[in-house]
Amino acid sequence: MDFTLSEEQRLLRDTLRDFVRREVMPEAGDLDRKSEFPASAIRRLAEMGLLGMAIPEAYGGTGLDSVSAAVAIEEIARGSAALAVTISVSNSVCAGPIARFGTEEQRRRYLPRLARGELLGGFSLTEADSGSDAARLRTRAVRDGDGYRLSGEKAWVTNVQVGGLFVVMASTDPGRGSRGITAFLVESDFPGFSFGKIEDKMGLRSSLTGGIQLQDCRVPAGNRLGEEGEGFKIAMATLDGARIGIAAQSVGIARGALEEAVAFARQREAFGQTISQFQAIQFMLADMATAIDAARLMVHRAAWLRDRGSVPYSREASMAKLFATEMVNRAAYQAVQIHGAYGYSREYPVERYYRDARVTTIYEGTSEIQRLVIARKLLESV
Ligand code: CAA
Repeated sequence: MDFTLSEEQRLLRDTLRDFVRREVMPEAGDLDRKSEFPASAIRRLAEMGLLGMAIPEAYGGTGLDSVSAAVAIEEIARGSAALAVTISVSNSVCAGPIARFGTEEQRRRYLPRLARGELLGGFSLTEADSGSDAARLRTRAVRDGDGYRLSGEKAWVTNVQVGGLFVVMASTDPGRGSRGITAFLVESDFPGFSFGKIEDKMGLRSSLTGGIQLQDCRVPAGNRLGEEGEGFKIAMATLDGARIGIAAQSVGIARGALEEAVAFARQREAFGQTISQFQAIQFMLADMATAIDAARLMVHRAAWLRDRGSVPYSREASMAKLFATEMVNRAAYQAVQIHGAYGYSREYPVERYYRDARVTTIYEGTSEIQRLVIARKLLESV
């Protein structure tokens, strides 16, 4: 067993760490306060190949292995969780399923543009009345000549407004439940497509989340991803991989919280010494560091398993997501606690980390859904 990163992975980590420190961290707080999309950082990350992590080199991507992708997302999230989710979503739930389930024509049409960052991608499964119970979606796709007409309203979609391509799940056969769901590649300028309201969120304020409205939206048959009825399985298989990305994002936020807490504890004085000299503070820091390490090991194990290709990894991906996302909420809480009143102020980044951490146990499958997946796998195998 080898716990060290390869030379390329270390180089990727160090390059991104430096980039995040110089270009992301100085502006992240301000962008969050203004709810402004990090457009220039996205452009720079696209130049560095980070928008093509999930895209094979043959289609213009960098084709990173899953451990490298997790390392990259952790580094970006250390500075800005909003930037990390924007990048993670475009790669893992848009480019990823096209690379895996798309036709040659679909790959050639979309992957090079996604890799260059000319096109940002998203994924649209959730609706106002169906989140955890994803198979209950109502959006309909009706065959119409050489295409389909999609009608319905999607909710909580990451990368709205800035995204140009969405993997949209719709039902082609409502009587068949999850087996009647089909996946489509829908461009934001297709007739009948419009963005709905932008959510005014607690955290991740510089990422764009909102609704998509489909009114008889005309989608060519060539934009169906997979066969009719395969959409739910495509969505579930896609989310297995994407959950590793959210777990990596959580490790990055938690590391940020820890690093800020260490720096604060070293300089803040109370009762004649720095607060880092109090065991109460030291124990909090030690617990945070231990939990972060455990979460990172779980993330890398799930990513490593994913790269084996032939072994199932849903259980390990759900375990990593469950553990890392619950962990980051505790770590962010402790970091605010160590900062005292300053942690409650927008002037210190831990206040943002605390808000950003909250959604991680909710999106891409709540902690309860992760437990359900883990328990089902456990009971199947015993
Ligand atoms: N891979 C491939 N196929 C899978 C699968 C997987 N991981 N999991 C299930 N399937 C298949 C099953 O084998 C089954 O196939 P058959 O019909 O052939 O038997 C089919 O899918 C239905 O499976 P289930 O009976 O298990 O389905 P279910 O209705 O009980 O739901 C669930 C399972 C795990 C609860 C699922 O609904 C789920 O994951 N819910 C959470 C959804 C979610 O994560 N949403 C987040 C949206 S993305 C987001 O957050 C926005 C963003 O942009 C960040």
